[in-house]
Amino acid sequence: TGYTTLDTGYVNTASCQSAITYIDGDKGILRYRGYPIEQLAEKSTFLEVSYLLIYGQLPTKTELENFADQVASRMMIDERLKELYRSFPRGGHPMMVLSAGIMGLGAYNRQYLDPHNPEHVEEASLRLLGSMPTMTAYAYKSSVGEPFQYPRKNLSYVENYLRLSFGTPMEEYELNEDVVRAFETLFILHADHEQNCSTSTVRMVGSSDANIYASIASGVNALSGPLHGGANQAVLEMLRDIRDNGMNVKDFVAKVKDKQSGVKLMGFGHRVYKNYDPRAQIIKGHADALLRGTDNNNALLDMAIELEETALSDEYFIERKLYPNVDFYTGLIYEAMGFPPSYFTALFALGRLPGWIAQWREEHTDPARKIGRPRQVYVGATERDYVPMDAR
Ligand code: CMC
Repeated sequence: TGYTTLDTGYVNTASCQSAITYIDGDKGILRYRGYPIEQLAEKSTFLEVSYLLIYGQLPTKTELENFADQVASRMMIDERLKELYRSFPRGGHPMMVLSAGIMGLGAYNRQYLDPHNPEHVEEASLRLLGSMPTMTAYAYKSSVGEPFQYPRKNLSYVENYLRLSFGTPMEEYELNEDVVRAFETLFILHADHEQNCSTSTVRMVGSSDANIYASIASGVNALSGPLHGGANQAVLEMLRDIRDNGMNVKDFVAKVKDKQSGVKLMGFGHRVYKNYDPRAQIIKGHADALLRGTDNNNALLDMAIELEETALSDEYFIERKLYPNVDFYTGLIYEAMGFPPSYFTALFALGRLPGWIAQWREEHTDPARKIGRPRQVYVGATERDYVPMDAR
């Protein structure tokens, strides 16, 4: 039929025009709306970056205060939606619970679902941003069987999120400035990454005129895979396995190089970066600052650094331009903060939310937009006649 251009995994196919995020994978450059990630990670806050991604400009002081207020006033979720969390079994994976929660949120806000009504889109965007820390924290709280906390208006977005996750009614949760700043930075670093698997999924689902909740829940599901956001959980499990099996790092790297083993160095490699992932560089600095001095995770951090050094000086990794990606060091920080590995990818989702929203909104204002509908190269049987059962 003339559709013969095969591009498995969309290695060389642009699905849209976008003005949100720029990546130069060879040079290791990442910019949101033109601003270098290094500057945003150091100087900005997650809410400010969310505003930048969604509306295209850095906010003025009044715009940011107003935005923060709008988001904060949507942090409480409907009391009945909490029942959804209680209905999941303790060991249910937080990404499954989060995805279901987002669909639940849509059901509770069904008066704002029209993808072509700007007021609906604005309300749903703010509602998602406000509710996501609460829902992510509740996914965690329900998995450990602790009571849900209520958000507080006098706390920042990140402060609220930490308190919702770790606070209990027993005592006031003490916020640690360094931890708050580290999470601001981590969420900024995850906030967008152009047309990756989950963002492309959000756009693909959105292209059918499905509502924003359905699109973003689909993004959460795409993110859950270990080749994508699920890699942060997989990295920590890999480090623990190496430690628990008393393996040395060189032997593990040799196993990775042996393709028969099917073992990958998780947290390494990237479709676009053929250089050090700039996000990993920043996170490595934070891991070092946060973990040194605690007796917590020094051994695993040392192992991660040794793994990185061994890989970066090995022909296999050099030839293939494989470097640490964003997921290589994040798990160590999350674990030191007290989160179990199964919860790490939900933290990635919380960080990625403004990017998904911005991309979905950009898609919906693109005059060239069309339903996503790839073609295929058919390789099945040519026409043949139906064979009756007794003749097969
Ligand atoms: N360990 C060992 N070998 C690897 C790895 C790895 N982590 N990544 C790529 N390779 C090899 C791969 O086997 C292939 O070798 P060959 O040319 O001999 O067949 C070569 O490098 C090229 O890799 P590819 O699989 O064609 O690359 P891709 O662009 O299709 O996949 C990737 C990118 C990120 C899925 C892959 O590098 C990977 O599986 N990494 C581990 C999982 C991971 O850390 N994912 C997080 C990605 S960054 C954040 C995010 O997206 O959420």
